[in-house]
Amino acid sequence: MSVSEREWAEAAGVLAEEVATPGWADAVAGTPRHLLVPAWWAYRPPTHWERVDAYGDPGRWRVAYTDATLVTRVGARHADDVGAGDTVTGSPTSSSTLPSLVVAMFEHAEVAEGDRVIDVGTGSGYSAALLAHRLGGDAVTSVDVDPYLVRVARERVGRLGRRPEFGCVDADRALPGQGYDALVAMVSVRPVPAAWLAAVRSGGRIVATIAGTSLLIRARVRDDGTACGRVLADSAGFMRTRVGDDYPSMDDVFRAGRDAEGDSVTTDEGEPYDLAPGGDVRTLVTLATGATDFRGYRREDGAELAWILHSDGSWARIERCRAAGGGGRSRSVHQGGPRALWDEARVALGVWEERGRPSVRDFAVTVTPDATTLVWDGPAEWRITL
Ligand SMILES: C[S@@+](CC[C@H](N)C(=O)[O-])C[C@H]1O[C@@H](n2cnc3c(N)ncnc32)[C@H](O)[C@@H]1O
Repeated sequence: MSVSEREWAEAAGVLAEEVATPGWADAVAGTPRHLLVPAWWAYRPPTHWERVDAYGDPGRWRVAYTDATLVTRVGARHADDVGAGDTVTGSPTSSSTLPSLVVAMFEHAEVAEGDRVIDVGTGSGYSAALLAHRLGGDAVTSVDVDPYLVRVARERVGRLGRRPEFGCVDADRALPGQGYDALVAMVSVRPVPAAWLAAVRSGGRIVATIAGTSLLIRARVRDDGTACGRVLADSAGFMRTRVGDDYPSMDDVFRAGRDAEGDSVTTDEGEPYDLAPGGDVRTLVTLATGATDFRGYRREDGAELAWILHSDGSWARIERCRAAGGGGRSRSVHQGGPRALWDEARVALGVWEERGRPSVRDFAVTVTPDATTLVWDGPAEWRITL
């Protein structure tokens, strides 16, 4: 099935009106996103992803013109592969970011005509295509760790007559080129890699997210090769950088801590912390411990269980049960592995409470080649080094 230029241009025009700022409206209206995302994975809870072909049903291609993230790769399987079995399980490893967020990231980086920009996380090539529409292909470099994604984005974006430079690198380690006016990352990191500081000119902007959190930061590079800025009020969450085809599974760590007694068992008194995703507590626990996964559920007897897991094999399990004798609830914490994650989290949560529970969005950020540090510049300084 083919889609006429009139049809997609009309759909892209409506999308541009809905999501684009004035500076990005022409790029959104002029970019055929359906050609960059011909297939994707749709989540079928609780565990599966089902392959969707943009041309499988009449009009399905129009999904590319909704303000939605389209997951294009799950585990090691890209939705472009038409093969045996059209369902997969696993975590997303690439996607086409929702257009409003792509535009917001460019706005946060103050990208404008005349800038040279590096787009970290090519994915479908949509962000690179928008940049090349506005700035010209010569001004845009886009990198991804995945050779297939890079090759396909180069071909598909090239067919639109746009020729950004594409490169296949692990962005945690190296980036091609230097002297960029802005670096925009649609993959999350911890810490901001030294290679990013080296790639951006003095006065240039880095806009990125911190892995495992929805913290969005903007930092300006200084003459001394460090950068400083702030956590922004907006939030954004992106998949973290990977080195291989897929993320290492956390299932073994979870199995180790699912029911085990652990190396230490303590009772944690006081108000329970809300570990809900996106909340300040979950963000602080992630920042303080580097936790890579959180899991939780309510048992049939009403007990609430939460796990904090780290790829180094550490785990903490927090159990809230009805206390014996009927009154109130007791909380016990089991911890195992090389580090006591809940003890580390408790230290950070204690400081947070002493400071009057400041919002994590109120932190400044400094980036050096060795570390990224979040700094609360309230009455008593507080630094969290990543
Ligand atoms: C959310 S997608 C980017 C979406 C893209 N900007 C778009 O508009 O379609 C994140 C991308 O980061 C890539 N990525 C993951 N780890 C990386 C790494 N170490 N270096 C570079 N890219 C990486 C993934 O392969 C994935 O394609």
